[in-house]
Amino acid sequence: MIMKKIDISASINGIKLPLCIMNASGVLCSTDQDLSNLLNSSSGGIVTKSCTYKPREGNILPRYFEWNIGSINSMGLPNLGIDFYINFIEKKKINKPIFLSISGLSIEENYSLVQKANQYSKITAIELNLSCPNILEKEKMLGYDFYGISNFIENIFKFNKKPLGIKLPPYFHEAHIKNIALILNQFPIFFVTCINSLPNGLFIDINKESVVIRPKKGFGGIGGSIIKPFALANIHKFYTYLRKDIAIIGCGGISSGKDIFEHILCGASAVQIGTQFMKEGISVFERLKKELIFLLKKKNYSSLNSFKGKLKYLQ
Ligand code: SIN
Repeated sequence: MIMKKIDISASINGIKLPLCIMNASGVLCSTDQDLSNLLNSSSGGIVTKSCTYKPREGNILPRYFEWNIGSINSMGLPNLGIDFYINFIEKKKINKPIFLSISGLSIEENYSLVQKANQYSKITAIELNLSCPNILEKEKMLGYDFYGISNFIENIFKFNKKPLGIKLPPYFHEAHIKNIALILNQFPIFFVTCINSLPNGLFIDINKESVVIRPKKGFGGIGGSIIKPFALANIHKFYTYLRKDIAIIGCGGISSGKDIFEHILCGASAVQIGTQFMKEGISVFERLKKELIFLLKKKNYSSLNSFKGKLKYLQ
């Protein structure tokens, strides 16, 4: 019997990933060591920690906590500054697509960061993070500011020439997703990544009758398995409303090959792993790859396109 070859490579609007699985920005992608580990791993691409212009220490510790089905964080964008990430990309032999994640503390800082990234051809694409929920100095998150986001993206595309995608927060109303999609559809955006963590969650240690992280009185972004239904819903609604050439990178609640299958069935072209990467370390990519191939074999699918976006509804 001839075994069919299973192709789990991905294309994000023409950006070719040898494997559809990569890390989510923020998790084990901040330092030279983290990024070198990712370069040497089987991940299909690399996303750097969201950077600001200058290095940042981030919020006070403890700022991350995980339990069996989720995680809470209020990291506050600890990062080594854009120059560090650019230098890393410039000096290393880059063997897969590399996405520079940017999250300026102000609109002006975002313009400067995108301008700077445009000067370096080894950066495959920019992932503009408009959804960090943990910045104490910033009241507004652009991803939830429907008026601000339109004006902002219009200005970015006056000078940006690089493939650029946007990391979005979760939305909870169809009308909000439709509104954002209609705005994004007006611009030459390459991809969206959805979703970032669910903002303003609270986890409690019942024995101590206390919160578990220190910044923001314990409130933080929720990730992990617990958020998968929200990720799937956002992916599928964006798949419905976005222009078909804008790829969706699914993120949220993936810890198995089955979870990846569900993200792709909802319309994702590739996926990112956050909390599970943090829990399991670099070997997660190889395990997920094996599980996804196993599942596709069982279902007799030879590539992601055989089922991407083909979620069925009940009659
Ligand atoms: C953080 O550094 O606070 C997390 C970044 C994010 O969730 O976008």
